[in-house]
Amino acid sequence: MLTPEENELLTRTGPGTPMGELFRRFWQPVALAEEVAAPDQPPKRMKLMGEDLLLFRQSDGRVGLVEPRCAHRGADLYFGRNEECGLRCVYHGWKFDADGRCVDVPNMQPGRARDNIMKTARIRSYPVREWGGQIWAWFGPEGMEPELPMVEWALVPPENRYISKKLQECNWAQSLEGAIDTAHFSYVHRVLSEEGTGKPVYLDKRQQWIHEDGAPTFEVIGHDGGLVMGGARRADPGELYWRISQYLVPNHSLAPGTFPGEPYAAQSWMPVDDENCWIFTVTWCPDRPISDEELERYDSGRSVHAMVDENYVPHRNRANEYMLDRELQRTRLFMGITGLSEQDAAIQDSQGRIADRARETLTPSDAGIVQFRKLVLGLARDLQQGIEPPQAQRPEVYACHSGGAVEPEDVSFGEVLERRFGHPTAHATDLLPGRQAAE
Ligand code: FES
Ligand SMILES: [Fe+2]
Repeated sequence: MLTPEENELLTRTGPGTPMGELFRRFWQPVALAEEVAAPDQPPKRMKLMGEDLLLFRQSDGRVGLVEPRCAHRGADLYFGRNEECGLRCVYHGWKFDADGRCVDVPNMQPGRARDNIMKTARIRSYPVREWGGQIWAWFGPEGMEPELPMVEWALVPPENRYISKKLQECNWAQSLEGAIDTAHFSYVHRVLSEEGTGKPVYLDKRQQWIHEDGAPTFEVIGHDGGLVMGGARRADPGELYWRISQYLVPNHSLAPGTFPGEPYAAQSWMPVDDENCWIFTVTWCPDRPISDEELERYDSGRSVHAMVDENYVPHRNRANEYMLDRELQRTRLFMGITGLSEQDAAIQDSQGRIADRARETLTPSDAGIVQFRKLVLGLARDLQQGIEPPQAQRPEVYACHSGGAVEPEDVSFGEVLERRFGHPTAHATDLLPGRQAAE
């Protein structure tokens, strides 16, 4: 439970808010590279952490993220032309490059006055990098940019990963809490029966264990990049099935399901405003390309990747109640909604645009959520006092893993982590250094 004041602190990320300032101390994923695949295409409207912006790729391939307001008389550069290395306002022809510099003022005669205007007139722009198939932006103080976080999906070749993006119609924090709360798998994603059989058909033992033990015990260990969390369920006699996830400061998580050889999965939350966010979902394999079968599954929305339209809005969404089917709910799916991603979206949205954490009743299975709030609220408060978040300057702490393990029930969580990942907090020391970014 949080006080109303703490809830405000956690959920508001607009300019000038404490959490907004914390977010702005980290490189943030803001778009898929495919959204600005070609140069000189029309600029794309973006809203990020409450700010209206334009994203465009100029003629020389550089990507710009700029405010949409022309420095002359404030016309909207969205209506502008992306041409010859800059965005040209169509009101009087002023032009701005990806750095926000004014590079042409054609409505003035050449001379000193025009030169002065070109030197001083600017639009706000944010530094941008391409990393792991995504566009990342720096919204923080000029010159303070750290190295990009060493997330593993950015270190593998493009064919080893699959990235998607979807709109989530609620606040970022409750959606992230959904991802690190692995207890919900026993309910939200439960399959009651396979069509025609009247009984559950489990894809594998994991599904069965998740179904049969709805009260996992939780352990949480803090580390330099965030938290590693283990949820343990009863497995075969004498054994526990561990689902181990990661929270990485301030807005990333690594998913708990991966067994060795399977693709890893991660998510990042980028607030659009306080009532909506973009979720970037990545699946990747360190050592092999994504298989055709996996690709087919991701493309068809039968996985952690949602089915979305050309604007990345899920087909099943708030407006159509996620196509909730009560007959399906009665007979086959606990939730009555098809699709893993859609099930998560529906239940997270259902907590309200901004969940009211003053009215919760938490249980021991919410341990990860409690620690997440404590950590991120502490960092936001520290920053208000002038203490910078240490994680922001340490890209190597983002190189870590998550996944599942089955171990005898007397093996401690710390030992499970050692055995499964070869490291006490699942950091992927093998990724460092020497692995080069693929793009
Ligand atoms: S308002 Fe943009 S050039 Fe005049
Ligand atoms: Fe889920």
